[in-house]
Amino acid sequence: MKGRESRSHLIVENAQWDAGRAAADRQEFLRDVVEGLSRRPKSLPCRHFYDAEGSRIFEEIMRMPAYYPTRRETEILARCQRDIREAMREEPFHLVDLGAGDGAKTRILLEPFHREGCLQSYVPVDISGDSLSRMAESLRREMPGLVVHPLADEYFPALDRLSAAGLGPKLVLFLGSTIGNFDEREAVSFLKGIRSFLEPGDALLIGFDLRKDPGVILRAYDDEDGITARFNLNLLARINRELEADFSPAGFLHHAVYDPEQGVARSYLVSRRDQAVRIRKAGLTFRFEAWESIHTENAFKFSPAEIRRLAEASGFLESARFSDREASFQNSFWTIPG
Ligand code: AVJ
Repeated sequence: MKGRESRSHLIVENAQWDAGRAAADRQEFLRDVVEGLSRRPKSLPCRHFYDAEGSRIFEEIMRMPAYYPTRRETEILARCQRDIREAMREEPFHLVDLGAGDGAKTRILLEPFHREGCLQSYVPVDISGDSLSRMAESLRREMPGLVVHPLADEYFPALDRLSAAGLGPKLVLFLGSTIGNFDEREAVSFLKGIRSFLEPGDALLIGFDLRKDPGVILRAYDDEDGITARFNLNLLARINRELEADFSPAGFLHHAVYDPEQGVARSYLVSRRDQAVRIRKAGLTFRFEAWESIHTENAFKFSPAEIRRLAEASGFLESARFSDREASFQNSFWTIPG
């Protein structure tokens, strides 16, 4: 690879992409909202939680005592960074971070990997360009010599650009149990998609929240301080802001359930009364009956056996797994079967 040239090429492309992003996002948001509110039962896709306000509230969630996944995963990464490096067969490698956010968790791996010289570059991928460039700046300050190429893009286009650039061995991170937002069919198709951009020698480190006491799970999605309620209700506020709608936030309540049979925490927004909501950008009015629900999120929980089966169904081999002492969370290391 002609290192420097490919790198600056990626960055220029990225800047151009950024310019068109906002408009495309707005269109997609409008389409998903109209489609979801036209369904019976009504639903809205959870990936629209994360506008600037939603991302701020999610940071509050991660600091809540009841929201255990972030702390458990952080512990695992800190304790197992050496094993993770050993599981990687080729060095130096690129660390590709899907949904990097502010990169707080990844720093735990980056710091020792960079110090020990096993990294070729760090490639955080996130659709939020703002937080990415802030993170890249601070990383370059904190870890002199670290090569950082932020990609403000969706996951598949980003992976496509990386594999076209012929980077060489990469460890792809998909942390935070974001995979739990997909049902099984969606998860397999998403993971097969990732698999298609990887070659032998590459690996995927993926975070899964494990099945556990249903009460513990439910409290993580239904805290007493109402932070998760604010997070869920922000979706309606976002529709108001971006699509000129007139949802009254007091007209809806947050409701979460955990189903131990399917192993899934589901979140809803429930209409407190009969009401009609006008969405001006869509030119449409939606009616809600009293106590009608909008399904806004699934967060699936896994058993270690389900994780292994998911790896195989998606064309991977689970070659190592790392867990915390209470078996609350698992980071699973997947390779390409040879
Ligand atoms: C960011 C998808 C991992 O499902 O636990 C937290 C999102 N929703 N509280 C999760 C979330 C409500 C979170 N993920």
